[in-house]
Amino acid sequence: TELPDLLVVGSGFFGLTIAERVASELDKKVLILERRPHLGGNAYSEREPETGIEVHKYGAHLFHTSNERVWEYVNRFTTFTSYQHRVFGKYDGQVYSLPMNLNLINVFFGKSHTPDEARALIAEQSSEIRTEDAQNLEEKAISLIGRPLYEAFIKGYTAKQWQTDPKELSPDIITRLPVRYNFDNRYFNDVHEGLPTDGYTAWLERMADHPNIEVRVGCDFFDVASEYKGKVPIVYTGPVDEYFGNSEGRLSWRTVDLEAEVVDVDDFQGCSVMNYNDPDVAWTRIHEFKHFHPERTYLPGKTVIVHEYSRAADEDDEPYYPINTAEDRAKLLRYRELAKEEPMVLFGGRLGTYQYLDMHMAIGSALSMYDNKIKPHFTDGAPFA
Ligand code: FAD
Ligand code: NA
Repeated sequence: TELPDLLVVGSGFFGLTIAERVASELDKKVLILERRPHLGGNAYSEREPETGIEVHKYGAHLFHTSNERVWEYVNRFTTFTSYQHRVFGKYDGQVYSLPMNLNLINVFFGKSHTPDEARALIAEQSSEIRTEDAQNLEEKAISLIGRPLYEAFIKGYTAKQWQTDPKELSPDIITRLPVRYNFDNRYFNDVHEGLPTDGYTAWLERMADHPNIEVRVGCDFFDVASEYKGKVPIVYTGPVDEYFGNSEGRLSWRTVDLEAEVVDVDDFQGCSVMNYNDPDVAWTRIHEFKHFHPERTYLPGKTVIVHEYSRAADEDDEPYYPINTAEDRAKLLRYRELAKEEPMVLFGGRLGTYQYLDMHMAIGSALSMYDNKIKPHFTDGAPFA
């Protein structure tokens, strides 16, 4: 069989962006290998068959960016709705508006505050601990927002996310805990926000829809690596530790378990995402997917909800969020050295670089790799490194 000009391992946003640029701008043949049975990586979505409601299979994905180049690029493949993300949180029998804002403060403390009164209240409550002195996540959070808000909105949720008492967690996990002293409860501050009008999968498929691109799903790179390694340039977006046979040890990740069900009501919770802050509720959040697309028409009397649970990933679990302990960082440095020495292979994306990347960051980082390394290789014969 004929070798492609470029092999891309992984069909998430990183791999698709590289493939699309090389295929359309450079007119080169690209083969994408994807080990899952579908393309698209973690942003993939599908319609729940009974209700037709679009469900993001690997967790809810909200697109937002302030990067104009990324915004222009993504609009070549899809339009976006005017959806604005807002999150609510249950705690002790009440629902609060998140992120922490003046509405939450007023409901929680049971009286109205002006912005200045609220600021003074939180300053007083957080004076208990100086941020520089915080020895663990709990102390850090208290130093930033005070004990009452910490105990209600951070403690139980964080403990469930990490399955660890926040007293045992590093203070470095949080840098800031923004409190808004106004009623703004938009979740994201970016200039552009929305959801792909025809869904994520249509967007992802359009990126791959080019005569120079072949996508082979259900194909694990490691089963065919010897056919390509050293023979064609490779952009690898799978887990970096796995590429090197875990020689430096496994990098640690958290995963989430997502349990979808159809419920016989029109509207289960009145919003797309409800956080559960109480420590005795096992799940961290419930997603109700029809609320991501209020502009669509739905069958009456049915909705799809997804309970989300968080835990450390085992070997066979999907790696979702890097845990990034000091040990992980030391291993990562050693993998980066190995990656530099690996001939004709570039490592990218969230798994290939062991970083949490939002979609716009994965796309932006792929466009930079294309500009700085891939295009110079194909147009000027620069080394593929
Ligand atoms: P991925 O999408 O993970 O793609 C990598 C692909 O490589 C996968 O399909 C994998 O199967 C494949 N692969 C790996 N190894 C091999 C191999 N050996 N052979 C063949 N194929 C292989 N971003 C946002 O902007 N907004 C959000 O709201 C948001 N929510 C998220 C929620 C969760 C739970 C997670 C985990 C991520 C979320 N993201 C969100 C981030 C978004 O998913 C990533 O930005 C995007 O997936 C990055 O793309 P990628 O190509 O780097 O990785
Ligand atoms: Na403080």
